[in-house]
Amino acid sequence: MPVDIVVGGQAGDEGKGKISAYLASKNDYAYSIRVGGPNAGHTVFYKDKIYTLKTMPSGFVNPRTRLVLGAGTYIITDWLEKEIKITGGGDRLIIDPNAVIVEPRHTKEEQGDARMMGKIGSVGTGLGAAVRDRIERKKLRFAKDEPRLKQYVQDVPELLNKALAKGRSMLLEGTQGMKLSLLHGEYPFVTSRDTTASTFMGEAGLGPKYAGDVYAVFKPYVTRVGPGPVAKEQTDKKLLNKYHTAGREVGSVSGRLRRVGEFEMGLAKKTVTINSATMLAITHIDLLDGADISKGTRSFTGSAKKFMATLEVLCRTYPNPKVALISYGPGLFDVLDLR
Ligand code: IMP
Ligand code: MG
Repeated sequence: MPVDIVVGGQAGDEGKGKISAYLASKNDYAYSIRVGGPNAGHTVFYKDKIYTLKTMPSGFVNPRTRLVLGAGTYIITDWLEKEIKITGGGDRLIIDPNAVIVEPRHTKEEQGDARMMGKIGSVGTGLGAAVRDRIERKKLRFAKDEPRLKQYVQDVPELLNKALAKGRSMLLEGTQGMKLSLLHGEYPFVTSRDTTASTFMGEAGLGPKYAGDVYAVFKPYVTRVGPGPVAKEQTDKKLLNKYHTAGREVGSVSGRLRRVGEFEMGLAKKTVTINSATMLAITHIDLLDGADISKGTRSFTGSAKKFMATLEVLCRTYPNPKVALISYGPGLFDVLDLR
């Protein structure tokens, strides 16, 4: 399929980075594209190293895949330069001239805004302030204006659409999740952009005709790093501790301990519908009992089995996605691939 899209079905941190990296390794896409801002941390465990990527596409794990940042990407240049170094992906990186630079004044402004930092729980990277300046048509710096990024700048829509015409495939990695969508989420406890598949396509400069599989990523529970609704929030200190340690449920950009709640079926159905998800990717199944998958075993017991059974409701939600990937550990290949 031409453009496979990875979206979050909850409040971000579903494991989109891991799923994207896995898909990029297996599917050998020509391009791995990321859109959105540096408020989203995507974590990839690869070759005994942990990469927390705020800007570089997770598809960097495949050396044959070129890495693309679209016009809907917001960049903190210092952070991107660090990620170029640690991933070694600089020689494969392409940046749209209209990607926006988040400047220190944006970050300072957001961090100084008590309401944004308190009530909304902003990660404080400055993304919101940069998006606002763009909407207000204020003076901004774009990737094309940044001498440190000049070497990477290229017309992304032209490049990608020419590749599509030649039948090349690509992966589009979205950020955050349904609860945090500015359009469809739990306003005002949302981020400053929409977080659904169609918007990601637009942010990359791709038309809807080229959408391939849409992978909706879910955990068997919901986490939220900031304020806002969480169904049946977990308050048991011992259980929370398990999530924060074994489940690594600590904000990768914010450093905050994530709140934990139960799997929200209504939200999951909405995710399938609005994104027209064709594939379900489940991560963190290892946090449930009955999911001790030694490689090759495909059967679950206990809570894991029960959870997998509830997914049938999602598979009956149009367009009837299939359970495609089940991630049972942080490693890149700790995945049961049922495609
Ligand atoms: P902002 O987008 O940084 O302003 O944050 C707005 C809300 O979205 C806050 O509750 C953040 O914690 C949350 N948020 C933003 N990005 C992410 C993410 O990538 N993962 C999880 N929560 C996020
Ligand atoms: Mg994250």
